[in-house]
Amino acid sequence: MEFEKIEVKPQSAVIQRRVEEVVNTLVRGYDEVMGRLHLGGRKGDYDDIHYEFNGGAQDQLRKKHYDKSMRLLWKAEEQAPWLDFRDCTAEELTLLSMAEKSMDREELRELKRVRSQEFRDTIMTEYTERERQAIVNVLSLIGHGEAYAWLVSTELLNEVKSTGARTALTMQVLEEANHFVVLRELLQAFECDIPRMPIWEYLLLERGFKSKGVEKFFAMNVVVEGFALGLFGMMSTLPGLEIWRLFHRDESRHTALPSNYLKEFPLTAWQKRSPFARAHRLSLILPLVPAVALGEEDLAELGIDAFDFAGATARKVFHLSDRVGFSFPISTAALSSVLNAAFNAVASYTRVEHTKKDYLQAETTRGERELQTEAEVFGLKRGRTPTEATRRTSAASHNGGARTAA
Ligand SMILES: [Fe+2]
Ligand SMILES: [Fe+2]
Repeated sequence: MEFEKIEVKPQSAVIQRRVEEVVNTLVRGYDEVMGRLHLGGRKGDYDDIHYEFNGGAQDQLRKKHYDKSMRLLWKAEEQAPWLDFRDCTAEELTLLSMAEKSMDREELRELKRVRSQEFRDTIMTEYTERERQAIVNVLSLIGHGEAYAWLVSTELLNEVKSTGARTALTMQVLEEANHFVVLRELLQAFECDIPRMPIWEYLLLERGFKSKGVEKFFAMNVVVEGFALGLFGMMSTLPGLEIWRLFHRDESRHTALPSNYLKEFPLTAWQKRSPFARAHRLSLILPLVPAVALGEEDLAELGIDAFDFAGATARKVFHLSDRVGFSFPISTAALSSVLNAAFNAVASYTRVEHTKKDYLQAETTRGERELQTEAEVFGLKRGRTPTEATRRTSAASHNGGARTAA
């Protein structure tokens, strides 16, 4: 390439550089002093000298969360073409039609069924009106949670250290936006009333959003997303709701983020054990007891024991908390016993027949793939197999245990 050079005076360039150096020293010096005095200073948590965000590159975090999310990014137009999303590129649409050409007749028929308006109609015939309303009531809890997950991850994006962590949060913001708008359309397709947030959820989400700094990881990625993960894992095997598998896969990555992040930037002893933080964490999870009792009737309609679900979720949430050091005023073992006693007490009041059980040992995630994903994320031993879990649930609905809830 040949450029037509413009002649400039060399001395002028020297002067420009010197002026810039002086102003640079003054402005950055002023910002540094103001920063040290906590009176303002530089707002951007960015290290332009090393071309990196403060906290360094943290490529492992980038690989585990950003790269993986990009690989697993899914498009609503491909997964549920009957929704009003046009998010596939022309190349992706061509690839899809090429993939269809390689399918045999039976596969194509199945694909057509899944993609057509007829399939949407099967949701209407597969479930009674009351069951559809129960599904919407339960999933709207997650729908409202997705709105807050979007809000919280957007704020956290500006609070985490390192380039790797920012890429991870950027993907989470994108995925939460996707979850919110897609879930909203899916629920609208059920043609039922979509309820407002119950006050117990309002308390959890609002207070979680107001949590300071990495405590947001506890409120959102551990508690709220642990809860969402459990719900998607429990409902992804229901006819027509297979798309929840994709949500489940994304949420599993989000719940793993605190431990991956805090491995690189550990909580201080004070952050872990401060009595205020411990009491705040406990106060965040306590509204879940009345929330579960409130959702019991809808879950019972779907053959799901609400306290099994709550116990399984609590066990996983405590496991995640222990792993990164988010401690409570009492140990998670003691807290599990307290919760179990509370669940049994409520169940003995709401059920016609109730025998005491250890709800914290229940497993309500049903799909084989979902159980595998959770085992990887939580580093947990695989519990009951899905076949056993399904057998158990249908036994519960046959003996009337779940359906007789108040
Ligand atoms: Fe989400
Ligand atoms: Fe999430």
